[in-house]
Amino acid sequence: MKNLPKLDKQIPVEIVGAGYYLPERILTNADLEKMVDTDHNWITERTGIHERRIASPEMATSDLAILAAKSALENAKMEAEEIDLIICGTITPDMQYPSTACFIQKGIGARNAFAFDVSAACTGFIYALSTAYMYLSNDYIKTALVIGAEKLSSVTDYEDRNTCVLFGDGAGAVILKRTENEGYGLIDFILESDGRNVGWLEVPGGGSRNPASEETIDQRMHFTKMKGREVFKFAVTAMKRTTVRIAERNNLAAEDITWLIPHQANKRIIDAASQALGLDQSKIHYNIQKYGNMSAASTAVGLAEVIINNDLKKDDYLLLVAFGAGMTWGSALIKW
Ligand code: ACO
Repeated sequence: MKNLPKLDKQIPVEIVGAGYYLPERILTNADLEKMVDTDHNWITERTGIHERRIASPEMATSDLAILAAKSALENAKMEAEEIDLIICGTITPDMQYPSTACFIQKGIGARNAFAFDVSAACTGFIYALSTAYMYLSNDYIKTALVIGAEKLSSVTDYEDRNTCVLFGDGAGAVILKRTENEGYGLIDFILESDGRNVGWLEVPGGGSRNPASEETIDQRMHFTKMKGREVFKFAVTAMKRTTVRIAERNNLAAEDITWLIPHQANKRIIDAASQALGLDQSKIHYNIQKYGNMSAASTAVGLAEVIINNDLKKDDYLLLVAFGAGMTWGSALIKW
């Protein structure tokens, strides 16, 4: 794998607002016990998940994202017309096309923006952040709205105990702005993928390879299929690698990191990544127990929660790390 360079000195890009939205309906482990052959102890011991949020049938991914985006705009004290770019990281778009980002644009009234989606599964929010950063830091635009949003319940097979216990719905959003604060804001990214393992985690039906048909429905091909053990082993290695590399190349020791905001697929994967860096557990932002794995929305909601619920101070370091289908993985370093 090629090592991408550390970001060069460019125009600083900072987060000026954050928001998130989680559906009200809670699906507990006890509820799942009634649906498939599973039990609360197995789920909590193997994953760390206690419950997850499930969107109502009439809500699509963009509806979750619009609520998160409105909350981020309010937090930033900005109007939607001020947004130049909207990027939505998602693998559960409202439709094959148009993009979910365009539905969000319509929903919030961001008539001066251009909008598109990024598909990198659970790494989608970090990929989206880095994409927005490139436009901003090269002076192409001034403001961007970056969202991670998923309605994973729409592609979850509630007859498959291997996967249905893992996933939930939600959306997180941040607003990025060009600033004058040299050395602050988004200061580094590492982005990686390995397409050799595309088959480990997929929704095989509904795309151009297997268009929707009676057969794809009969074979439940419109739901997530996952090789859990392979993904688990890969994820531990990838998460450790990206966490340690981004800290090392920015000369940061574990004690320098204020918050690690990891993708929330499995508590054991998070703990392995943080232990590789020697990070104290109190510095890890966990929301897996409440929300399960929300794919691109996990790191987006996590980042928004950390920003909103903590009194972040100047010079605090926030480290986002994620992995997902593809396989994709990566990290983003923010200096507050
Ligand atoms: N309840 C009870 N038993 C279960 C359940 C369940 N919900 N699910 C699986 N089991 C059983 C299995 O059938 C297996 O039984 P067997 O030994 O008789 O075959 C046993 O439990 C152990 O299965 P393992 O797969 O070895 O369990 P493991 O400890 O690996 O945990 C898990 C499974 C939680 C899925 C783990 O492998 C994991 O977290 N993998 C990574 C998942 C992940 O990160 N996915 C990312 C998706 S994000 C995206 O990009 C969309």
